[in-house]
Amino acid sequence: MQTMVKCLLTPLMLLTFGTLNAAQLQKTVAHALNGIEIPVNYKNWKMIGVAHRLDKHSLRVVLGNQIAINAVNNHQTNPWPDGAILAKLVWKETQHPAWPEAIVPGQFEHAEFMLKDQQKYKSTAGWGFARWLGMDQKPYGETADFAEECVSCHAAVKDKDHVFTIPAPLP
Ligand code: HEC
Repeated sequence: MQTMVKCLLTPLMLLTFGTLNAAQLQKTVAHALNGIEIPVNYKNWKMIGVAHRLDKHSLRVVLGNQIAINAVNNHQTNPWPDGAILAKLVWKETQHPAWPEAIVPGQFEHAEFMLKDQQKYKSTAGWGFARWLGMDQKPYGETADFAEECVSCHAAVKDKDHVFTIPAPLP
């Protein structure tokens, strides 16, 4: 009997604590100054593209949520559909200790996001912009209108729905 109770209790406890942990983890990241919350689960999203910035000496990977990935697969990224979210993760470049010619991710610099919603983010070209700095994920910016800086630079690719990333070719 005791064994049976234990058998039942353990998965239950795991479930309860598992859920609590997920909720707590999310809460530890403060929302951006424009109210955008860090998207849940972004670390499990699929890759769309990568970039190596020579000027910033950093490596970047661009990930997409399922709506964004579907849009890429269906070649419907101009415009991107509402609900698509693009994430960009940035690391300082560093040399592999065993193979210095290999440039690999070093210190984590920041995670930033573009959330597509034509109506909601009308004032910032249909995208919600947000960025969190470092391993402690501190919201970026001084004031709620920090995204103006993002939009004005992303205007260089206005004709690509303000998105720079070109999906990486795959066989
Ligand atoms: C000075 C120019 C500049 C500014 C300012 C800027 N970006 Fe970007 N952003 C880029 C470039 C260039 C890329 C693509 C290459 C790369 O990864 O660096 C990019 C890529 C991105 C991507 C991946 C999707 C895409 O468009 O390729 C996201 C997400 C993103 N930026 C978010 C932001 C956010 C959020 C801000 C403001 C807090 C911001 N950016 C400010 C130049 C800029």
